[in-house]
Amino acid sequence: MSDLDPFKIFLDLQLALPRNGPGSAVATEIAFSMLPPLPESPEIADLGCGQGASAFELLRLTAKKKMRARVTAVDLFEPFLDKLNARAEKEGVSEAQLVVTRGDMEALSFKDGSFDLIWAEGSIYLLGFERGLETWRRFLKPGGSIAVSECTWLTATPSQAAQDFWEAAYPSMGTISSNAHAAARAGYELLGTHVLPPEDWWAEYYTPMRQRIAEMRAEYGEAAEEVLANEEAEIALFESNPGQYSYVFYVMRRKD
Ligand SMILES: C[S@@+](CC[C@H](N)C(=O)[O-])C[C@H]1O[C@@H](n2cnc3c(N)ncnc32)[C@H](O)[C@@H]1O
Repeated sequence: MSDLDPFKIFLDLQLALPRNGPGSAVATEIAFSMLPPLPESPEIADLGCGQGASAFELLRLTAKKKMRARVTAVDLFEPFLDKLNARAEKEGVSEAQLVVTRGDMEALSFKDGSFDLIWAEGSIYLLGFERGLETWRRFLKPGGSIAVSECTWLTATPSQAAQDFWEAAYPSMGTISSNAHAAARAGYELLGTHVLPPEDWWAEYYTPMRQRIAEMRAEYGEAAEEVLANEEAEIALFESNPGQYSYVFYVMRRKD
């Protein structure tokens, strides 16, 4: 068991969760409500879609408004897309509604102006907030919209532990104000923000993650310990530093 690949352990943990980052259907709906009107048949991309928590929610929200949306869900890793496809099949979602594509969010092969809306929950950090917005802008139609959730400082005076953790994990993590400036520089008008409440970290992410960590300790023993201990440290940091940072939704429109 000592040759277990840390990425396999990480995948085992993540695939057992209902979503792959903090968030909720409520938060997705709040961000969706900040968008300008969409066309009747909007083209939507969900970048870094994971198992598709937001992709399915976007299909539900657009259907509720009598739109016939097509969501193109993109992720780099097949195991997430396999779960997404299995859910689509179970729920009877057709290929006309949901296009599942393996791709690298840094080197997307879509034509310029392909989408009315780009959605990215908990994934733009992989490129960095500003670089992600710059990179993806050309895939939006002129006047198109983008909604991303991004881990964000909520205080100017974080604890030393929180500073140390995020300095190592994501040194360019911004504040709402610095991200608003970054959005303007990248060519967007910021329409609104929504700070995810603590329950959006717990209910579908950290609580099931803690349960799965306990199961995996029993299954894998010492071989998985380093990965599991790192994940536990992240959870403990969030628990002991309330209100210092959270994911924030940024809803923006491409300025032309
Ligand atoms: C924190 S998870 C968020 C997943 C999902 N949006 C959610 O909220 O449940 C980040 C996702 O980005 C995917 N990812 C990582 N690097 C990527 C890349 N270069 N291109 C596309 N997806 C990537 C991961 O596989 C993972 O599913």
